[in-house]
Amino acid sequence: MERSFVMLKPDAVLRRLMGTVLTRFEERGLKLVAVKMMNISEELAKEHYGEHKEKPFFNDLVSYITSAPVLAMVIEGDDCISLIRKMVGATNPKEADLGTIRGDYALDTGRNIIHASDSPASAKREIALFFNDSEINEYALPDESLIYE
Ligand code: GTP
Ligand code: MG
Repeated sequence: MERSFVMLKPDAVLRRLMGTVLTRFEERGLKLVAVKMMNISEELAKEHYGEHKEKPFFNDLVSYITSAPVLAMVIEGDDCISLIRKMVGATNPKEADLGTIRGDYALDTGRNIIHASDSPASAKREIALFFNDSEINEYALPDESLIYE
């Protein structure tokens, strides 16, 4: 089973979209193994989005992500990293397909409500940045044989 790091950004929290978005992942059959609401420090924001540090939007991105609490989580499922990226949709919500989370709930790139890891290497790095091993819960879902062949 693969694990992905997913984060509902401050706009999702402030717009009361947490339950709606979590429901999408749960209804798809994915398993939430860690969830926490937290304020991100400027240092953590810069580390998390380090790949963008030379970009013109970097300071705005750090301000946005540290402006209110986020909901950080680890989600588990078969091939879930690419699957969740598909569920999240394009970075620019105006280009995101309808039926994706950004395509249904967001309008602007700088307010696109959710982050998801883009590769196994990013997932590993990001999970370690936000969670200790002891915060990640291992448990079996009783309906796993209904979800997976
Ligand atoms: P994340 O899952 O948040 O990493 O988004 P992504 O992988 O779809 O996009 P990317 O990693 O390229 O960019 C990270 C985040 O920076 C985006 O989700 C946006 O919030 C923000 N961002 C990216 N490009 C722009 C831009 O051109 N302008 C602004 N204001 N923000 C941007
Ligand atoms: Mg990204």
